Amino acid sequence: MTQPPDEWESLRQEICECHQCPLAKSRSQAVPGVGPNDAQLMFIGEAPGRQEDIKGEPFVGAAGQLLTKLLEQVGIKRQSVFISNAVKCRPPENRQPTRSERAACRPFLDRQLQYIQPRVIVLVGRVPTETLLETSVRMGEMHGRVYHRNGKTFFVMYHPAAGLYNQTLVPTLEEDMQKLKKLLHSDPAPAEEREQGQLPLSEFFSEEKK
Ligand code: URA
Repeated sequence: MTQPPDEWESLRQEICECHQCPLAKSRSQAVPGVGPNDAQLMFIGEAPGRQEDIKGEPFVGAAGQLLTKLLEQVGIKRQSVFISNAVKCRPPENRQPTRSERAACRPFLDRQLQYIQPRVIVLVGRVPTETLLETSVRMGEMHGRVYHRNGKTFFVMYHPAAGLYNQTLVPTLEEDMQKLKKLLHSDPAPAEEREQGQLPLSEFFSEEKK
């Protein structure tokens, strides 16, 4: 007798077979995400690009190579983190995913987060930051900082593609990775305490930014 697919596998299959938005027509394949489904750290990018659409894996193109290098620099193994995107299918010509595409894909992201329960969720660039923090985003102010929402801990960083276009951003990406590493090695209690204490949006590293 065949076993029913488990929750994680059926989520993956649903993503791969999804036709909830027009991106299903232009994609080669959906890109659900890669990595252990009990990872402590989850990275969420924007949407797959050309290479990702071909390989079915997130962050395998040039931006992905830079992400891997940034992780290695602070001793985080890429294989130990879960990597996905706010939108699971490639938008044509790599345009930004629309609000309705993001909304159509959101339940998949929420289910991945619910299943993985990562300690820290890294928002890679503007699109996932806008999507998950539900705020208008000024990356210049928000990168390198920690935000607590609905019991979850988020860390915002620039998209590595920004570092490819503008080399002067690479040191900032490297500094933010150091901050992320520090956050991972910190006691997880402050997130809950801050939330329970009804403090405004937490700025864990605000002193370092000043
Ligand atoms: N950029 C993203 O945001 N996601 C990918 O998977 C690749 C590039």
